[in-house]
Amino acid sequence: MSKNRKPEYLVSLDVGTSKVAAMIGEITATGAVQIVGLGTAPTRGLKKGVVVNIENTVESIRRAVEAAELMANCRVRAAHVGITGTHIRSLNSVGVVPIRHREITARDVDAVIEAASAMAIPADQQILHVVPQEYVVDGQEGIQDPIGMSGVRLEAKVHMVTGTLSAAQNLYKCVERCGLTVERLVLQHLASADAVLSPDERDLGICLVDIGGGTCDIAVYKGGSIRHTAVIPIAGDLVTSDIAVAFRTPAQHAEAIKIKYGCALPELVAHDAPFDVPGVGESPTRHLSRQMLAEVMRPRFEELFRYVRKELHRADLYELIAGGVVLTGGVAQTPGVLELAEEVLEVGVRLGLPQDVTGIDEVSRSPAYSTGVGLLLFARQQRPVGSYGNGGMRRLGNSDAGQLFGRVKGWFKGNL
Ligand SMILES: Nc1ncnc2c1ncn2[C@@H]1O[C@H](COP(=O)(O)OP(=O)(O)OP(=O)(O)O)[C@@H](O)[C@H]1O
Ligand SMILES: [Mg+2]
Repeated sequence: MSKNRKPEYLVSLDVGTSKVAAMIGEITATGAVQIVGLGTAPTRGLKKGVVVNIENTVESIRRAVEAAELMANCRVRAAHVGITGTHIRSLNSVGVVPIRHREITARDVDAVIEAASAMAIPADQQILHVVPQEYVVDGQEGIQDPIGMSGVRLEAKVHMVTGTLSAAQNLYKCVERCGLTVERLVLQHLASADAVLSPDERDLGICLVDIGGGTCDIAVYKGGSIRHTAVIPIAGDLVTSDIAVAFRTPAQHAEAIKIKYGCALPELVAHDAPFDVPGVGESPTRHLSRQMLAEVMRPRFEELFRYVRKELHRADLYELIAGGVVLTGGVAQTPGVLELAEEVLEVGVRLGLPQDVTGIDEVSRSPAYSTGVGLLLFARQQRPVGSYGNGGMRRLGNSDAGQLFGRVKGWFKGNL
């Protein structure tokens, strides 16, 4: 690699219900991603993954981006941004085209993907992703890259993801109000899957479950490609509100108690000293045990995993996930949650931590950063071969101040 190689940067923005995480990654000479900037800020402007208050969301994004810029000593101009919410819909579709010159070219592949995406979708929805699952050439199934193959009939099986236009527009608005360009909107579960799943797991059959503050995002892989995605509106915030109601304590105390003493399985809790729970208004502080707290938390987690199981059965995929389930997202840090998931789902469950990045240990140790890391990996995969100095940022003090980096892509047009 040349000594004069210009650094290449990637930027990700995970706008979650609990926090915004901004990450700046540098592509090393070996092609790996090294995180050079990280900024997080709590959010109050989202509900169940969707922007409900522009001002609050803008403020959180600004704070997270500024902190990441400070750490990386740069200015960010564009980012890959995650999107989720119960407005997200997904379906599998098939397209067929004749092969024009008997040998498949990139144009034939584009044409067959377009044919597969020609579906009637509701007027308020827009296509976010069209992910090829496999190609079929003259009846021969299971082809991953058909370019150069001979044949007369090309078929593509794809997984399509759509989202409401308004949810995407509000997210765009918030990011752009911070002076940033949205390089690409990416479904959060696809990003998280990129960060935590191994190629072997995707091949064997695996279900990724990312449980955040507002939503539980599911992505199922089999035979190396995505088969199903879904969003369940039960996550950490509901556990917190259960605690607040059960112990009659304000939400911020309930959240703090959950993180400090919480456990999803009462059987795992050792009998230890009680802790204080502040009351609401004039009501006095009480003493509670971890056992009582776990008894309150367990039913909500159980409900959530039952929904996950139901969703897998509904999509006819429960029998196909031989690799089991990978849990990620902030809630995956709850003691006992993996064991409870195994009990309810009756498959092997492992914790999914972000892989394939270096630079900041805190990131590789926390499942709450899976989406942010996945967005960086997604951005790396999308960049044009041989491009340098992109990534939507500039070093402070560079002479190229003011240059707008980053390709602006139509979010609704791009494929994976
Ligand atoms: N150490 C911990 N133990 C248990 N729960 C935790 C811990 N840390 C964070 N959480 C919970 O994880 C949730 C936040 O997770 P995460 O940061 O993945 O959410 P998010 O990405 O902002 O939200 P979403 O993806 O749903 O929009 C909160 O409910 C929080 O209480
Ligand atoms: Mg999240």
